[in-house]
This record gives sequence, structure tokens and C-alpha cells, in this order.
Amino acid sequence: MKITMIGTGYVGLVSGTCFAELGFETVCVDKNPQKIETLNNGGVPIFEPGLDELIKRQVEGKRLSFTTDVASAVQQADIVFIGVGTPTSADGMSTDLSYVESAAKDIAENLKGYTAVVVKSTVPVGTCRHVESIIRKANPKAEFNICSNPEFLREGSAIQDFLAPDRVVVGTDNPKSKALLQKLYSPLEKKGHSVLFTKIESSELIKYAANAFLATKISFINQIADLAEKVGADVSDIALGIGLDNRIGKKFLQAGPGYGGSCFPKDTKSLATTAKQFDCPITIVDAVIQANEDRKKAMAQRVSDAFNSKTSGKTIAVLGVAFKPNTDDMRDAPALDILPALIEMGFSLKAYDPEATEEAKKILKQSEITWCNTKEDALQNSDALLVLTEWDEFMALTPGVLEQYLNTKTVIDLRNIFNVEDMTQAGFTYISIGKKPHFPLKEINIKSCNN
Ligand code: UDX
Ligand code: UDX
Repeated sequence: MKITMIGTGYVGLVSGTCFAELGFETVCVDKNPQKIETLNNGGVPIFEPGLDELIKRQVEGKRLSFTTDVASAVQQADIVFIGVGTPTSADGMSTDLSYVESAAKDIAENLKGYTAVVVKSTVPVGTCRHVESIIRKANPKAEFNICSNPEFLREGSAIQDFLAPDRVVVGTDNPKSKALLQKLYSPLEKKGHSVLFTKIESSELIKYAANAFLATKISFINQIADLAEKVGADVSDIALGIGLDNRIGKKFLQAGPGYGGSCFPKDTKSLATTAKQFDCPITIVDAVIQANEDRKKAMAQRVSDAFNSKTSGKTIAVLGVAFKPNTDDMRDAPALDILPALIEMGFSLKAYDPEATEEAKKILKQSEITWCNTKEDALQNSDALLVLTEWDEFMALTPGVLEQYLNTKTVIDLRNIFNVEDMTQAGFTYISIGKKPHFPLKEINIKSCNN
């Protein structure tokens, strides 16, 4: 059985490589010749831990190859996956399906023999039927069925998420395509991983419902963190205290500066838009989106608070700009809101990220940002430290080390990587998330119920 993956981005490249790892001959196609050239020269266009070795092993095993020739790749395939980008449209809310439609046309022109056409990209409910009609119209004789197979890959742990998934979700309405997908995922099923077959529309909506629910958990704990600061509670203990209830679960309850990445922001907006289009708005998701937007903007204010708004001429060391650790992806990273806001306030910035600097430089071009090659360079003679991404290498920074580099003992830690007590005892002005009040506690008046 031969597989073709169209799109070699974060989703397509990992998925195609993992199909080869499962033992299936896989061709990864991309329109971008530079990406394919990099891959064919042994390079990897994205940072994903372990991907370079896995690609090397599959290419040497002759199970994986890369090409820009979509025609031959589609003609030889039993299953063709669409793994191209589905970014937010210019209107800021709906989904740009132009890449998916372009891939569908490429497929229609080259289908040969019975083929399962599978949409892996995250697409609004109804898109699989839309792709099916594009192909049917362009090639009425084509023997194919459309399927949905969304991915649940987290950047930084994508290979693990693919090869040891909580579940695989497949939407099909035809036994022939279902048989092909069953064969493809049987190595995972044999290892005890769940493979759920469902209707196409259910599969499309499962992806959005999953991401929107995870984003809801994050916006929820972020707002609980704000209240915790006001009343002198500790959000980490609250997260643990609710997370030990297995109906809630401990994961995705880490308060921070707001969620970013190429998925949660895009997928929550897409779901909210789809719901409105079907005249049943999901107002909870609308609120999650608003809460996240507001939060990213509010985070810069915490830095200003640390200087009692005396910000001009001050330099901030920014450690981490990627939207999360173990990735170079800057898409919708909180840094993209926070750094410009800090510059607006009059701060100069010295920024360092272990992997995302090159990506960040393409977007954050302000002259007030000095990009540093080490965290020590960024810290040296800065007036404060701002932690935006919780890379492991930042965890090792102790108050004693920070004191050697910083002009003033001021740390704004938006990922709670340091310990409040350690920082406070070392005499630092330490601003964290949901751990301790930044303002004098308001008197909490509990009105007795009988007055
Ligand atoms: C993105 C989203 O992050 C994810 O939610 C969605 O499920 C799939 O789209 P990603 O892999 O990050 O996944 O996309 P991106 O990094 O933009 O890569 C898409 C690739 O497809 C690009 O390399 C682009 O050159 C290629 N492409 C696009 C084609 O090969 N053919 C096309 O017609 C259009
Ligand atoms: C997400 C989903 O987890 C994955 O299943 C889906 O396929 C793609 O989208 P990803 O965007 O790569 O994966 O990263 P994730 O680890 O989910 O983090 C997303 C954002 O939420 C990051 O900005 C992260 O910092 C933030 N986050 C995550 C929190 O603020 N708190 C948490 O507890 C978890």
C-alpha cells in the first residue's frame, strides 16, 4: 500500500515520516522547492525533536522520499493525504481553504486507480464534502472516496503523539476507504491504541471540539490565576486541587501569558465562525478567544508595574519567544503581542530563544530588540528579566546567578518557572502568575448570611 502526503509542514512532514515508520512506502510532496531540496539534502525545514533521525532512518530504509512532482506522487498512491496549511483568513476569524482547494485540484488531475483521499489538515466541518465535490467536478471518472483523519500532534512532542496516540480518529462513509485506513493504522491498533471510525462530519468536528476544549481549560485557569492573585491564593495548588479529579484531569491547567501556536488561536476562531454560520453560536468559545486576546495584551502591563511605570531607558532581558518550548514556531506566540507593547512603553529589549530566534527575526523587526545568542548575553546589564517561554535551560537560573547579570533584582516570570519563596528571600521583586498578590490585598468581606 503506497501513501502520498501533500504538504511537508509541521503536520505533513511528521505524519508522512511516521507512516513510513509504520512500514508504509510514503512520498511527501510540497509545492515549495526549497523545502524539498532541504529534505533531499538531508536537512529538516522545521525544528521537531527526533524528526531528523527518524527521517534519515526512513529515507535510508527506502520507505520515505520527497518530491515537488505531485502528479506522479498521486498517480502511484493508494491513499493521498492533504496536509497543507489551513491558516486563519484575512478577516481574522474564518479559515483560508485555498491551499486545501489547490491540493484537491492537483489530486483530481492525477488520480489513477481506486484511491482514498484523506483530509488531515484541520478544516471546518463540511470541507471534506467540499473537497469531494471539487474532485468529482474536475474528474467525474475518478474512483475515490473522501475521508477525514485529523491530527492531534503537539509541536515538540509530535512524533510521540503520532506513534503513541490517545486515539486515532477517522471519518469515512465507504467500506473500501475504511478498509485502507484500517490497514494503515493497524500497527497502532495492535499496540493497543484506539482507532475510532465515525462519520466524516463528526471527525471534522472532533478536532475543533478537542482544541477548543483544551483552549477553554487554559483560559479558565488563566482567569482563576488572576482571581488567585487578588485573594492571595496559589493557582498551582488550585490547578492540582481540581486536576486530581479525574473528570477534570491534571493537564492543560498551567497558567501563563495566554495560549499561542498555529492551532488553538486558529481553531477556536474557526469553530466560533462555523457555529455562527450554522446559527448556533458557541458563546463559551467566543469568551475563551476574547479572554486570551485580552490576556496577551495585559501581560506587558506587569512589566511596567514592576517599574512603577517608570519604563523609559530601561532594558528588559526576554528569555524565550517561541509559543512554547521545544519548537521554533512563532505563529501567534504571545511574544508577538507582548514585545511590541513593551517597546511602545519605552523599553529596550535583549531577546534570546534556543530555537525560534531566526523565525522571530522575520516578524519582530523592531530596532529596539537586540537578538542575543545566549541567555547570559541577554541578561548582562539588563534591568529586569522577563520569562516568556519555559525552555528547560532557563530553569537552572538561580537568584544568585541572576543577581550577577541583572542591574536590578527584578523578574517577571510569566511561566512560573522560578520559586516564589526563593526569589522573595533573595530580595527580588518577583512577579509571577497567580502565585501571590501584586497589589495590596483587598479586605475580603464575607457577609454573614443572616444579615
Ligand atoms: C497547518 C496547521 O498548523 C494545522 O492545524 C493544519 O492541520 C494543517 O496546516 P502545518 O503543517 O503547520 O499545519 O502547515 P504549514 O507549516 O503551513 O505547511 C503546509 C505546507 O503545505 C507548506 O510547506 C506548503 O508549501 C505546502 N503546500 C501548500 C503544498 O505543498 N501544496 C499546496 O497546494 C499548498
Ligand atoms: C495543540 C494541541 O495540543 C494538539 O493536540 C493539536 O493537534 C494542535 O494544537 P500545540 O499547539 O502544538 O498543540 O501546543 P500545546 O502544547 O497544545 O500548547 C498550545 C498553547 O497553549 C501554547 O502556547 C502553550 O504555552 C499553551 N498552554 C498549554 C498553556 O498556556 N497552558 C497549558 O497548560 C498548556
